[in-house]
Amino acid sequence: MKAFYQDFKLGIVGGGQLGRMLIQSCVNFDVFTSVLDPSPIAPCRELASHFEQGSLTDYDTVYRFGKSVDLVTIEIENINVQALYQLEREGVPVFPQPRVIEIIQDKRKQKQFYREHGIPTADFILVEGRADIVANAAFLPAFNKLGTGGYDGGGVQRLNSSADIDKAFDKPGLLEQYIDFDREISVIAARNANGEIAVFPPVECVFDPRYNLVDYLLSPSSAAPAVLQRAEAIARQVVESFGIIGLLAVEMFVTKSGEVLVNEVAPRPHNSGHQTISANHVSQYEQHLRAILNLPLGHTALKSPSAMVNLLGEDGHSGPVRYEGLDEVLQINGVNVVLYGKKETRSHRKMGHVTILDDNVQRLLEKVELVKQTLKAVT
Ligand SMILES: Nc1ncnc2c1ncn2[C@@H]1O[C@H](COP(=O)(O)OP(=O)(O)OP(=O)(O)O)[C@@H](O)[C@H]1O
Ligand SMILES: [Mg+2]
Repeated sequence: MKAFYQDFKLGIVGGGQLGRMLIQSCVNFDVFTSVLDPSPIAPCRELASHFEQGSLTDYDTVYRFGKSVDLVTIEIENINVQALYQLEREGVPVFPQPRVIEIIQDKRKQKQFYREHGIPTADFILVEGRADIVANAAFLPAFNKLGTGGYDGGGVQRLNSSADIDKAFDKPGLLEQYIDFDREISVIAARNANGEIAVFPPVECVFDPRYNLVDYLLSPSSAAPAVLQRAEAIARQVVESFGIIGLLAVEMFVTKSGEVLVNEVAPRPHNSGHQTISANHVSQYEQHLRAILNLPLGHTALKSPSAMVNLLGEDGHSGPVRYEGLDEVLQINGVNVVLYGKKETRSHRKMGHVTILDDNVQRLLEKVELVKQTLKAVT
């Protein structure tokens, strides 16, 4: 590989907010970025050293894009993996590796991977369609998940009993045992080509049941120390099993008896790691960059407890965005606002996030409520 500080070009497939925050770390390391995204107004458009508009799922587009750079990485996993395999065969480094992306793209393959590698996960049955669910009605209550094509909760639904089966997905997917969890946590880990692994302290996700999206996130998680140690050990096991190069976000359930189960993973920077930008010694974005460039990994420890609130487009507002309450939240100590550069808002679109730092957790939670009530993305 060329020295990354010379005429090296990093290709990023996907130009959303995760790419945008990755570019901020690339700027610090003086890395040239080339970004591919289908949208002419993608959040990365104006920040990338070079921007190309094109489909992420089209073989030729992804292949040609990869041939124009020295290393390919991703910020979204719904992309043409066959093109990535071809690039890899032709000697273009692709991190995370296409074989890892291919498994993660399909929840069915992912779950089977956990089973094969002895990684704790909720019990499941693969189903080809609704008829299979009828045949396995005894497995309910369960979560019915699409193998591919779901994103941000869109391909996941709970089936409580046989009465719900008529709304089940009639496509290849799985039935997953319903877990009455105590909490959901997330652990972000990274591995570089030298095999060095670093794990961020677990964070806790508090979900908004209306949208199945993270409502706010708390770092560190308040789970018992033994649970957190177990979660970190599992994250390490998952990273080693995949042999991934790059970042891996591991979403987990903690059961009421303290058992830790892997829900799913993402091979890239993740929504549950935004707060690392200001609250940890190294951010998930810089860590991803260090991992794919085979640099020493950064120190993951917290500088301070923090919370992260997603700034979602206000319900019923659709059109050019305006941020209400920005002045007020910027007056709160320890508040950092990150806007994603999306010119148009719509109901619960991810427009930005706010990180809040405070040594006192009670005060931190009060600030979370204040920020949620005050800052709005409206038209
Ligand atoms: N087996 C389960 N038992 C209980 N709750 C579950 C189960 N599976 C999923 N959920 C709930 O649904 C949420 C979304 O599920 P999952 O992470 O599999 O879907 P997703 O569409 O990939 O979501 P996202 O893109 O937001 O991560 C989980 O975070 C959890 O709150
Ligand atoms: Mg998820």
